[in-house]
Amino acid sequence: MKSAIILDLDGVICDTAHFHFLAWHRLAAEYGYELTHADNEQLKGVSRADSLTFILGLANKTLSPEQFQEDLHRKNEWYLELVKDMGPLEVLPGVPSFFAEVAARKIPLALGSASKNANMVLTRVGLIHAFNAIVDASQVTHGKPHPETFLKAADLLGIAPEKCLVFEDSAAGVQAAIAGGMNAIGIGTPEDLPGAIVHLRNLGEFDFSKYPL
Ligand code: BG6
Ligand code: MG
Repeated sequence: MKSAIILDLDGVICDTAHFHFLAWHRLAAEYGYELTHADNEQLKGVSRADSLTFILGLANKTLSPEQFQEDLHRKNEWYLELVKDMGPLEVLPGVPSFFAEVAARKIPLALGSASKNANMVLTRVGLIHAFNAIVDASQVTHGKPHPETFLKAADLLGIAPEKCLVFEDSAAGVQAAIAGGMNAIGIGTPEDLPGAIVHLRNLGEFDFSKYPL
C-alpha cells in the first residue's frame, strides 16, 4: 500500500518558528515576563489562543475576553510584519532537495500545520503547489497534540494513518503524530522531541533510501 509524507510548516519548511517567538516575546514583555527559548519549546505547534493562555500563566496575568482577543490580534500583526518580506529563498536548509526528491518519487504530500497563516506563508515561499492536501488551523476543532490535524491530512490524501510519516519540530506535533498512529521524524533534538523515530537537523538530512515510501 502507498505511503505518504505529512509536513509541519513553522520550523520544518521555513524559519517562521523564530518569528512566532519574537512576536510572543514582545507580547510577554508587556506583561512583565521575559519569554525564554525553553518556554518557546512548549509553545511550538500550539495554536495561537492556547499559546497566549500558556504565556499568561507564565506571567501570572489575567485578561478580559476583549483584551485577550485584542492581544491575539496584535501578536499576529507583529508576526505578519516579520514575514511580509519572505520569499522563495527563505526556506530552511535542505528544503529544495527534499521537495525535489518527493516529487521525483511521486510521494503523496500533505501539510499539517497549527497556523492560520499557513497558506499565506506557503504562497510566499513558492511551495503551495507542491502539496496534494493542506490542513491548517482553520480546518480543525482540536489543535496539536490532538491528532486531528494529521488524521485529516491522511484522510484527504486517502492514505492510512499508519502509512504516513510526519515531520515535526514541536513536542506537541510529535505527540499528535503518535496519537494518530503515525511515525514522527523529529526536526530537532531527542531531548526536545521524545518519541520521534529519528532526529534530524533539517529535511535535507532525511535519507529516502532508509524509509520505504
Ligand atoms: C504553529 C507554530 O505552527 O502555529 C506556533 O508552531 C504558532 O508557534 C501556531 O503559535 C499558530 O500560528 P498562527 O499563525 O495561527 O498564529
Ligand atoms: Mg512547527
